[in-house]
Amino acid sequence: MYSTAVLCLGLLASLAQGAAFNKHAALEDCLSGSSTLVDEVGSDDYNRDITPFNKRLQFLPAAIAVPTTVEQIQSAVACGSKLGYKVTAKCGGHSYASLGLGGEDGHLIIELDRMNSVKLDTETNIATVQSGTRLGHLAAELFAQGNRAISHGTCPGVGISGHVLHGGFGMSSHSRGLALDWVKGMEVLLANGSLIHTSATENKEVYWGLLGAGSNFGIVTSYELDTFEPPANVTWFVASVPLKQNTTVAALEGIEDYVRNTMPSELNMRLYATRQFTQLEGVYQGNKTELEAALKPLLSKIGGTLAASQTTTWIKGLEHFATVKLNQTYPYNQVQEQFYGKSLELTGLNGTAAKNFADYWFNVAKQETAHWYIQMDFHGGKNSAVWKADPDLTSYAHRDKLYILQFYISTTDTPETGFDFVNGWASATTSALKASDWGMYFNYPDTQLNRTKAQEMYWGKNLPRLQKLKAELDPNELFYYPVSVSPETSPELL
Ligand SMILES: Cc1cc2nc3c(=O)[nH]c(=O)nc-3n(C[C@H](O)[C@H](O)[C@H](O)COP(=O)(O)OP(=O)(O)OC[C@H]3O[C@@H](n4cnc5c(N)ncnc54)[C@H](O)[C@@H]3O)c2cc1C
Ligand SMILES: *[C@@H]1O[C@H](CO)[C@@H](O)[C@H](O)[C@H]1NC(C)=O
Ligand SMILES: *[C@@H]1O[C@H](CO)[C@@H](O)[C@H](O)[C@H]1NC(C)=O
Ligand SMILES: *[C@@H]1O[C@H](CO)[C@@H](O)[C@H](O)[C@H]1NC(C)=O
Ligand SMILES: *[C@@H]1O[C@H](CO)[C@@H](O)[C@H](O)[C@H]1NC(C)=O
Ligand SMILES: *[C@@H]1O[C@H](CO)[C@@H](O)[C@H](O)[C@H]1NC(C)=O
Ligand SMILES: *[C@@H]1O[C@H](CO)[C@@H](O)[C@H](O)[C@H]1NC(C)=O
Ligand SMILES: *[C@@H]1O[C@H](CO)[C@@H](O)[C@H](O)[C@H]1NC(C)=O
Repeated sequence: MYSTAVLCLGLLASLAQGAAFNKHAALEDCLSGSSTLVDEVGSDDYNRDITPFNKRLQFLPAAIAVPTTVEQIQSAVACGSKLGYKVTAKCGGHSYASLGLGGEDGHLIIELDRMNSVKLDTETNIATVQSGTRLGHLAAELFAQGNRAISHGTCPGVGISGHVLHGGFGMSSHSRGLALDWVKGMEVLLANGSLIHTSATENKEVYWGLLGAGSNFGIVTSYELDTFEPPANVTWFVASVPLKQNTTVAALEGIEDYVRNTMPSELNMRLYATRQFTQLEGVYQGNKTELEAALKPLLSKIGGTLAASQTTTWIKGLEHFATVKLNQTYPYNQVQEQFYGKSLELTGLNGTAAKNFADYWFNVAKQETAHWYIQMDFHGGKNSAVWKADPDLTSYAHRDKLYILQFYISTTDTPETGFDFVNGWASATTSALKASDWGMYFNYPDTQLNRTKAQEMYWGKNLPRLQKLKAELDPNELFYYPVSVSPETSPELL
C-alpha cells in the first residue's frame, strides 16, 4: 500500500510537471510565432528587466515580452490569455511590492520601457506619450519640446504608468494637482483583446477606473496629457525642525492648521524625518523673498529655521530632487533598495492620534538603529490643487485626505523586525482614528496586507464600483496580482 501510494504521487507529480513544461513550451512557441521580441533568459536585457526596485521581492516571470509596437503588445497578451497565464504590464518597475513583475512568480510580463516616445503638439499643448516612458524623460522632453510640464513625483526612473494610473504626487502637486489630473485620454488594451480609447466623454467608466486603479483593467498603451507652462524660476529649500517629544503634538497641530488653511498654492512641501533629523523640504514656485514670507507663520509657530534654499530654473529644480540625471530611458539600470514600507492617507493628525504617533517616534523609533524614514506629503488643504480637482472624474479614492504619510525601513538584516517596526508605528497612528479618516496609497503599497484588506485600504468607497467594472472587463482575471481588484461576486451566486 505504502509503496503504491508513493508511486502514485510520484506519477502525479511528474504528470503535473510535464503539463507545466508543455504549457511553458506552448507560451514560448506562441510568443516566438508572434511578432514580439522576448528577453532571452540570462541576457543583459533579461537581467535588467527582472531586477525589482525592492530587492526583498524578486519574482520569476514565465516570460518577458518586450514589444515596441501596440500590435506586439496585443499579440503577446493574446498568447498569455490563450494559454492561461496571468499577464502583467511593467513600465518603470518601481512598485514597492514588485507589482510590475506580477507580485508573484509565473506571470507573463509585458515590459514596456522600450516604448517611450513623447510628442508635444505645440498648438494644443497636448502631449501623446507612450506607456513605457519614465517620469524624468517625460519632464525633459515636455520642457525641451515646448516649455511645458505636468506635475509628478520626484524620482526620474519611476514609470509614467504605475504613477498616473494610481495617483502621482510630487513637488508641484500642491500647485498643480496629481499626475493623474493631467491625463485627458488613454488608449487601453482590454482583456478581451480590444483596443479602446477612453476619456471623460468616451468609455467614461473605463477612464474613471483606469485613473486610480489602472493596473486592474488592461494595459494602457498611450496617454494624452494636458500640460502647463512651468514657472521660469523656482526656489527649493530645506528647513530644519528640531522637535522634542513634548513639542511634537503642538508642532503637528500647527502644521495641520497651516496646511489646511494657510499654505499658499505656490508652495509644495513635505515633512521628512530619520532617526537623526527632522526637516521640511520643498519647492516654492517663486523667489526666496516670497518663500520666506510664505513659511514665516509656520516656522515661527513650530520653531523651525530655513537651513538652505536656492532659486534656480524649472529643470534644475526637478534635478535637485531627482539627484540623478532626469532623462532616463532604455537601457535603464535599476538602483535597488531592500526595505519594507507602507503608507497612510490621513484626513489629519492631531490630538490623541498625534500623541500616539509622537510617542512611538520618541520611545521606539529613536532607539531603532536600522535605517528608517518617515515622509509626510502635504497633499491637501484649502489651496491645494489636489483638493480643487473634481473628485468624481477618477477612482483615486483619497483625494479628501490632507496627508500621505509614508513609513520606510531598510530590511537588510531582518525583514520581520522591519515589519513590526513599521506596522507598530502605523497602527499606533490609526488606533484612535475613525475608519473614514484614513486609507492607504497604492503607489506606496504594503506587502503585508491580505487581498481583502488591501482593496479596502487602497480604494475605499470606490471599491464596489471598481469590482463591478472588473467583472465587466476582466471577469477571468487575466490582469490578476495578489492584491488586484476582485470581480464583483453577484449575490445570486453566494
Ligand atoms: C524611488 C522611488 C521614488 C518614488 N517617488 C514617488 C513620488 O515622489 N510620488 C509618488 O506619488 N510616488 C512615488 N513613488 C511610487 C511610484 O509612483 C509607484 O511605485 C509607481 O506605481 C511606479 O510606477 P512604475 O511604472 O515605475 O512601476 P511598475 O512596477 O512598472 O508598475 C506598477 C503597477 O502599475 C502597473 N502598470 C504598469 N504599466 C502599466 C500599463 N501600461 N497599464 C496598466 N498597468 C500598468 C503594473 O502592472 C503594476 O501593477 C516612488 C517610488 C520609488 C521606488
Ligand atoms: C533623452 O535621451 C534620449 C536617449 O538617449 C535622447 O534620444 C533624447 O534626445 C534625450 N532628450 C532630451 C530632452 O535630452
Ligand atoms: C471588449 O470590451 C469592450 C468594453 O466592454 C467592448 O467595447 C468591446 O466591443 C469588446 N470587444 C470584443 C471583441 O468583444
Ligand atoms: C519640554 O521638556 C524640556 C526638558 O526636556 C523642557 O525644558 C521644556 O520646557 C519642555 N517644553 C514644553 C513645551 O513642555
Ligand atoms: C521676488 O518676487 C517679488 C514678486 O514677484 C518681487 O516683487 C521681488 O522683487 C522679487 N525679489 C527678488 C529678490 O527677486
Ligand atoms: C530664472 O530662469 C531663467 C529662464 O529659465 C534663467 O535664465 C535664469 O538663470 C533663472 N534664474 C536663476 C537665479 O536661476
Ligand atoms: C483632526 O484630525 C481629524 C482626524 O484625521 C480630522 O478629521 C480633523 O479635521 C482634525 N482637526 C483639525 C482641527 O485639524
Ligand atoms: C485580512 O486581514 C484582516 C486584518 O488586516 C483580517 O481582519 C481578515 O480576517 C483577513 N482576511 C482574510 C480572508 O484572511
